[in-house]
Amino acid sequence: MKQTNVKPADGKLGIMVVGCGAVATTFMTGVLMARKGLAKPIGSMTQYDKIRVGRGSEKKYLHYKDIVPLADLNDIVFGTWDVYPQNAYQAAVYAEVLKAKDIEPVRDELEAIKPLKAAFDRNYAKRLDGDNVKNCKTRWEMVEALREDIRNFKKENGCARVVVIWAASTEIYVPYNEQYHGTLAALEKAMKDDDREHVAPSMCYAYAALTEGAPFIMGAPNTTVDIPAMWELAEKTKMPIAGKDFKTGQTLVKSGFAPILKVRNLGLAGWFSTNILGNRDGLVLDEPANFHTKEVSKLSTLETILRKEDQPDLYGNIYHKVRINYYPPRNDNKEGWDNLDIFGWMGYPMQIKINFLCRDSILAAPLLLDLTLLMDLAARAGRYGIQRFLSFFLKSPMHDYTKGEEAVNNLFDQYVMLKNAIREMGGYEADEEID
Ligand SMILES: NC(=O)c1ccc[n+]([C@@H]2O[C@H](COP(=O)([O-])OP(=O)(O)OC[C@H]3O[C@@H](n4cnc5c(N)ncnc54)[C@H](O)[C@@H]3O)[C@@H](O)[C@H]2O)c1
Repeated sequence: MKQTNVKPADGKLGIMVVGCGAVATTFMTGVLMARKGLAKPIGSMTQYDKIRVGRGSEKKYLHYKDIVPLADLNDIVFGTWDVYPQNAYQAAVYAEVLKAKDIEPVRDELEAIKPLKAAFDRNYAKRLDGDNVKNCKTRWEMVEALREDIRNFKKENGCARVVVIWAASTEIYVPYNEQYHGTLAALEKAMKDDDREHVAPSMCYAYAALTEGAPFIMGAPNTTVDIPAMWELAEKTKMPIAGKDFKTGQTLVKSGFAPILKVRNLGLAGWFSTNILGNRDGLVLDEPANFHTKEVSKLSTLETILRKEDQPDLYGNIYHKVRINYYPPRNDNKEGWDNLDIFGWMGYPMQIKINFLCRDSILAAPLLLDLTLLMDLAARAGRYGIQRFLSFFLKSPMHDYTKGEEAVNNLFDQYVMLKNAIREMGGYEADEEID
């Protein structure tokens, strides 16, 4: 590894996961099993991918850990918060994602991961009724209680660093409102005024994490850190932020498939995406206000890849629709259908159908590992604010919309951004040479 200014990954890394549901427990169980050599962290870029560094006769392909100092799986300590008091073992069993044979070998370690009381407001997720909830009078009190949680966790577990990642339910949609979200001072005032309409509980987690020197990642489509007030806080605390919404299934397919139409200059009349899923995430998303948050996030993908302004004949009039249907028999094994109405030479219509049968949490778990390890790296590299190089992992990547910036949704462009950031942090030149 080259000598760079990136601080080494010495000591323990605390990963505090907001929400101890299907995704969180599948992630934790996989990491604990992998470090015992009992499972393989398949799908994880940080554990498997190799990046080319150098050019021509100098080129070589290296794992991320051989380019930049990454935390080792053995150095991870997990913490969590949840509305329900069940420990990570009980929650993993309840989620029914993994078989007993893949949970039992790490049962003791999972049982020791007990959810701290959640900063929660039922108005943000009506379908949840757990009672492992903090008793706070104001949003500002929530922030202070969460800050104390992070400090205690760090001390009790001897962690050198902590990263906080949101894998809790999708909250109802909180649209950006300049009056409350435009500046840090405005947001702090809203928190102190206990403005429950404009300050989601997730914002309290993010605020607490950043002020305690922990990077924050938003894995749901919540607008939490996607507001100028939080960008200001990230800048002030010199902490990296990333979001939003893990790109696991249908949107991954979309962001990988839409470039096919684009590079072959085929037209698109409509793209209809529907899903059935039956886990608790599906239950929460069955509520229209919660689904709306997801819909906004899922719909943003196509328009930046197939651009109306660039190719009005091909993409001037796309009908894009996304649906999620709660269907308990499938539990975590969701099924997605995509119907693409495309058109070719002389406008003749054609169709493409994609039937994606996948496991939500199995696809999400490696993303949590990559995002937490790479955010910890980014912090040690002195990077702060929105980490656009992590767009690869996110459905609705954050960008500064107040300055007219656009999200990068094309999977292959995102991969270039990811590789270049790793190269740069490793002391190599960023480039776009073909691999
Ligand atoms: N699995 C995927 O493919 C995928 C992809 C993108 C985004 N996500 C998002 O990840 C999140 C987690 O998904 P899941 O399948 O694990 O859901 P889940 O319902 O199994 O787990 C979420 C947990 O969060 C808890 N929770 C809710 N509000 C909380 C709060 N304020 N504080 C602490 N805990 C809280 C709930 O009690 C629940 O146990 C969801 O928001 C989902 O939309 C998942």
